[in-house]
Amino acid sequence: MDTKKFYYLYFKVRDEDKDTILKEAGLSEDEFAALEKELAEEVRLLKAERSNLGPIGEEFVRYTRYLYEPAPDSAKGVTRPDAVFPYCGEIIQLPAVGVITKPDLALAQAIEQRRSLRAYAEQSLSRDELSWLLWATQWVRDFRSTEKVEVAFRNVPSAGARHPFETYLLINRVEGIKPGIYYYHPVKHGLVLFKEGSEWAETVCHGAFDQEMVKHSALTFIWVAHPQRTVWRYSQRGYRYLYIDAGHVGQNLHLAAEAIGAGACMIGAYYDEGMNEILELDGKSAFVIYMASLGKKQLGED
Ligand SMILES: Cc1cc2nc3c(=O)[nH]c(=O)nc-3n(C[C@H](O)[C@H](O)[C@H](O)COP(=O)(O)O)c2cc1C
Repeated sequence: MDTKKFYYLYFKVRDEDKDTILKEAGLSEDEFAALEKELAEEVRLLKAERSNLGPIGEEFVRYTRYLYEPAPDSAKGVTRPDAVFPYCGEIIQLPAVGVITKPDLALAQAIEQRRSLRAYAEQSLSRDELSWLLWATQWVRDFRSTEKVEVAFRNVPSAGARHPFETYLLINRVEGIKPGIYYYHPVKHGLVLFKEGSEWAETVCHGAFDQEMVKHSALTFIWVAHPQRTVWRYSQRGYRYLYIDAGHVGQNLHLAAEAIGAGACMIGAYYDEGMNEILELDGKSAFVIYMASLGKKQLGED
């Protein structure tokens, strides 16, 4: 779904008038007329769905209490999910985590000086630095696989060690790596090209509601949740854990960025349909859960 369609739907279901929609969605009269036809049914369905919705946040908290939890799939003998998405392709190997020199900024200083950073220096990141950031956030340090259960341990905590995330990177400026979108293989500690080309920066930026920092970042992390990994063990309560888990990844990224003279900004404002489409996800069995843009600090910043 392109941004224009998204904004058309967004304002339409809120019963905004035509002039507002034209302006906010950046539509011409002809485009508006075409969308009126094309999306009439979708608008009707969305409105009907929305009118039946209760306070879903409150309901989510209520019905994911243990008292309401059905037996999880793991207790019912449902086949275990893979702990790592089996995405294939030629691996661009990153420097091994045992080989790179780990930056030694004191933890207290990293915590103290961390800020969300939305403007970055032109400088590229080195491959070592990228390796470090991935090591801190999603690298798999221990992987155990049996027929019954598959577990990965990483440098962030995760409920039940289910680790429900995969990492995609929009790379704009990393030495020796062509711009594009990459999948990070957390066991092989390498990248697999997913979509090549610098133009993806613009597309991902649109997906993040045109937050310019995405375009100007050295790279942007896009974390994808595979809920079944956690739901298999915790039923619907597992959905709570997805979002808690994501926070740990974000904070490790923030602190690891500080250690290399970089800064990050977490991104929760993106439009799901657009981001899921870019990564070819169905939005249910896998969906974008969190993003973060990152780059070197400009001169004069801590
Ligand atoms: C879950 C979450 C989502 C966020 N989404 C955005 C975002 O989409 N755009 C943005 O500019 N900042 C975003 N931020 C950054 C916050 O605005 C920022 O952490 C807050 O203003 C406090 O500033 P500080 O991080 O510098 O202490 C997000 C932070 C979190 C934790």
